[in-house]
Amino acid sequence: MHSDIQEILYSEEEIQAKIKELGEIISSDYEGRNPLVICVLKGAFVFMADLVKRITVPLELDFMAVSSYGQSTKSSGIVKIVKDLDVSVEGRHILIVEDIIDSGLTLSYLIDVLERRNALSISVVALFHKPARKVVELEADYLGYALPDEFVVGYGLDYAEKYRNLPFIGVLKPAIYTR
Ligand code: PRP
Ligand code: MN
Ligand code: MG
Repeated sequence: MHSDIQEILYSEEEIQAKIKELGEIISSDYEGRNPLVICVLKGAFVFMADLVKRITVPLELDFMAVSSYGQSTKSSGIVKIVKDLDVSVEGRHILIVEDIIDSGLTLSYLIDVLERRNALSISVVALFHKPARKVVELEADYLGYALPDEFVVGYGLDYAEKYRNLPFIGVLKPAIYTR
């Protein structure tokens, strides 16, 4: 375990098992629909890579970078499109891939944007969510694990751009972000 991590919440094995489960459900739901799978950079890049390998139907993918947290540990509520999609979503079945739903502000903003661009359908898959921090009422269609209201990193999630490469998700030692 990394020395900056206080506790592992979900191991690499537990995460991969959940992704296999999600991949099977998504595969059956998207049969014949050629979804456009959208990765919300940067946090979702690890989940995206593992998830699409577990989806067995034909699909296309694209990437969008939005940022609401910056260097801070809590959401500013202001979502910024850092990199937009390369392709049009008009008439497409969209599956948005997120690492975590915290307040829900990032996703509700994104769903809004894609709706206005005339997507045919929009669904969300999020590997993690923090029920205690919910601000926006938002129904993710496919949800992985619930997390406690602690500062978590790993499996794509960062603190000041670090720890994204950890294969598990864990609680960051408070000493790291209070100093
Ligand atoms: C994090 C995370 C989600 C979002 C969740 O991204 O990856 O995208 O915050 O928070 P919310 O539900 O309160 O909006 P961040 O803005 O830190 O950018 P990053 O993915 O590049 O780390
Ligand atoms: Mn993110
Ligand atoms: Mg971040």
